[in-house]
Amino acid sequence: MSEFGNMEIVLTEDGSNSIFSSGFNEHYHSTHGAIQESKHIFIEAGLKSTIIDKPEIHILEIGFGTGLNANLTKIELESKNVIVNYTSYEAFPVPEKIFSALNYSEQLKQNNDFFIALHQANWNEWIEILPKFKLLKLHQKIEDAELPNNHFDFVYFDAFSPEIQAELWSEAIFLKIFQSMKNNAVLTTYSAKGIVKRALKSAGFVVENLPGPPGKREITRAKKIEYLPNNL
Ligand SMILES: C[S@@+](CC[C@H](N)C(=O)[O-])C[C@H]1O[C@@H](n2cnc3c(N)ncnc32)[C@H](O)[C@@H]1O
Repeated sequence: MSEFGNMEIVLTEDGSNSIFSSGFNEHYHSTHGAIQESKHIFIEAGLKSTIIDKPEIHILEIGFGTGLNANLTKIELESKNVIVNYTSYEAFPVPEKIFSALNYSEQLKQNNDFFIALHQANWNEWIEILPKFKLLKLHQKIEDAELPNNHFDFVYFDAFSPEIQAELWSEAIFLKIFQSMKNNAVLTTYSAKGIVKRALKSAGFVVENLPGPPGKREITRAKKIEYLPNNL
């Protein structure tokens, strides 16, 4: 186990690393498997839940952290003819000593250049990491963010848990995100707590429970479905 500040690298059960934050007293991913969990929730239940028939998509992530979700998104979409615009908010960036020691590239059998480029990309400006993958990492709390209207196709809500960061799982934050999403856009998250689903519903989402990855009974998928009058 290596250590840096209040973050330490841990090994999860699928062989992939995660981070334990002693400041928040929480892991960044399930200890049953970080890659397994992220793929299940954000790629399978989120990104792959809708056919992508657009030349360009916009993804919003809350909590860039290890960059694992961005990396899995690139892998999922690289064979498809789509440009990915990936916006991610992160209040507490992972330092180089930690991100450079994470084993995701080895686990995902990829060259490490893309993963390192994700982390080394400047904050607060659009960076073309690859011709089909553009990244905007915002070093900012989501509470303070001003989000565009009707913009995002997918949202990965990956903050620390509602027990630790209740203020982020609130109707106010979900409403801000809801307004930033296009009609039919999808948000997924690992928490299926009643309080989270109620806040999502109050913000306007249509909410469903889905089976979780190993170690987790259920996860949540929320859709923005606007019923537009078509006969007026
Ligand atoms: C559960 S971790 C997941 C991170 C990332 N998605 C990953 O796979 O590594 C939660 C992340 O949210 C970040 N975070 C905490 N509070 C935040 C806030 N108010 N606004 C934006 N990000 C925040 C943490 O620093 C951490 O990186």
